[in-house]
Amino acid sequence: MSTVTSFIVNWTQLIKASKPDRLAIILLSLIAAHYIALYLRQKARRYAPGPTPWPIIGNYIPTEKSWLFFHDVCKTYGPIVRLSLAGSEMLILDELEDIEELCARIIHYSFSFANAQRLVLLPYRPLLKKQQAAAFQVLNARAVDGYEGIQERSSIKLTTDILKQPTKAYISIKWYTAETLQTLVYAKRFSEDGNDLRTLLHILKTFAQDMHPTRHLVDVYPILDKLPDALAPWRGEAKEKHENEFTFYSRLLREKNGLDETSMAYQNTAGSILWALVAMLNYPETMKKAQAEIDHVLGRDSNMPPSFRHFQDLPYCTAFVKEVLRWSPVAPISAPHQSLQDDVYKGYFIPAGTTVIPNIWAIHHNEKRYPDPFKFKPERYMPKNGEKLTTESLNEGHCGFGFGRRVCPGQYLASKSVWMGVVSLLWGFDILPPTGASGKPVLPDPSAVRSGLTAEPGTFDVVMKPRRIIDVDALTQAWAN
Ligand code: HEM
Repeated sequence: MSTVTSFIVNWTQLIKASKPDRLAIILLSLIAAHYIALYLRQKARRYAPGPTPWPIIGNYIPTEKSWLFFHDVCKTYGPIVRLSLAGSEMLILDELEDIEELCARIIHYSFSFANAQRLVLLPYRPLLKKQQAAAFQVLNARAVDGYEGIQERSSIKLTTDILKQPTKAYISIKWYTAETLQTLVYAKRFSEDGNDLRTLLHILKTFAQDMHPTRHLVDVYPILDKLPDALAPWRGEAKEKHENEFTFYSRLLREKNGLDETSMAYQNTAGSILWALVAMLNYPETMKKAQAEIDHVLGRDSNMPPSFRHFQDLPYCTAFVKEVLRWSPVAPISAPHQSLQDDVYKGYFIPAGTTVIPNIWAIHHNEKRYPDPFKFKPERYMPKNGEKLTTESLNEGHCGFGFGRRVCPGQYLASKSVWMGVVSLLWGFDILPPTGASGKPVLPDPSAVRSGLTAEPGTFDVVMKPRRIIDVDALTQAWAN
């Protein structure tokens, strides 16, 4: 006798023996029937393979470097893995073909915690479509060409800031990316005392942490979102954060446009430039090659950093930036997508509401796609003979900007900001490691990252040594104009 049949027989006998109240019997029978149907349906369906979840809790998923954990489970179970987090379904994707196919279908994100009208958190409904349309209108590759002047001016300020405060490269880079966007979006520069930037960095740090799918219990157990306010303290926290951000943004701007919720953008762009420094420190030969190219094109005695009109002539620098975006993607697991309806893919059943996690880091470290993937090697992106370079090519050959209909709308602006920042630093400075107590250089660990959904390098020290005579006054004048 099967388990199910014996359960039904026992249940019927129990009812007969105890003669309980009829309503209770009907109710209990209905519940039992529901669970039996669920059990049979689950048995009939084929789910993707994955580790056995613990009862109630589900699978263990670390909040730190989760991309490494996801890649490891895929090495054991295959490129499509099912995990369960307290009854919620998760699907981990490790290969590009599956990600491209599924992300073309799955276009919805879901977060209960911080759902505060940010574009990145909006479900795929009319409001999102409206915001996306506005973002694409001002951020498409052609429109972005119009912002080159702002990016060039900001990079001049980056150079002078580092000259004036060589030990504060980290904050100067943050300032560079934040101010570029701020000027663009709000037509306003940050306050010189640094308070605006500090507030923004705090907002972004907590946002990157809140975005992680397992950071808040309510995202693990969405049912908790039904609790009244008194029993749901996270709601007050999310509201307070949203209000603080709103006050901050409102103070900065008179007029908002479709770009008002692009906060992660600053963080990611600065993160990529910081990764470029980590690469320069660990692979100094690549830095020297890029600097030689710049000197060859601009001349050793040039007194202005490169601009976009040098782009065509700096293929190694472009390959360098692309390799940074591949080697250390700042958004290693993109943003979690959620399926809106039941689906079947490669024979696996994917229930509606499944959180789909595309592992960008895993694709970028796939040996078949990128031989010797852990090595920083700009050569892999050198254009073939006669291939014409456009700034759009910065975004080709890797998937650091995501997939499908929710691909990063800021990708053209972002990659050009990273390029501009990196070539300015290469032009102006030798980027060197500090010397430790033992007299040996102290190199940053490329596997150290700050926590959150995004991956900025861990704290590291760097010596920014000017490599030419730079006329700060002339540069300051150029920036002010
Ligand atoms: C190096 C810098 C950047 C990187 C690596 C990056 C990467 C990403 C990634 C991986 C996603 C998720 C895509 C997906 O779900 O498949 C995303 C979404 C997004 N990015 Fe970026 N981004 C960067 C800079 C920017 C900039 C400068 C802007 C705006 C000016 C921007 C605006 C957005 C927005 C609004 C979304 C949400 C799109 C949507 O949900 O439909 N990003 N970004």
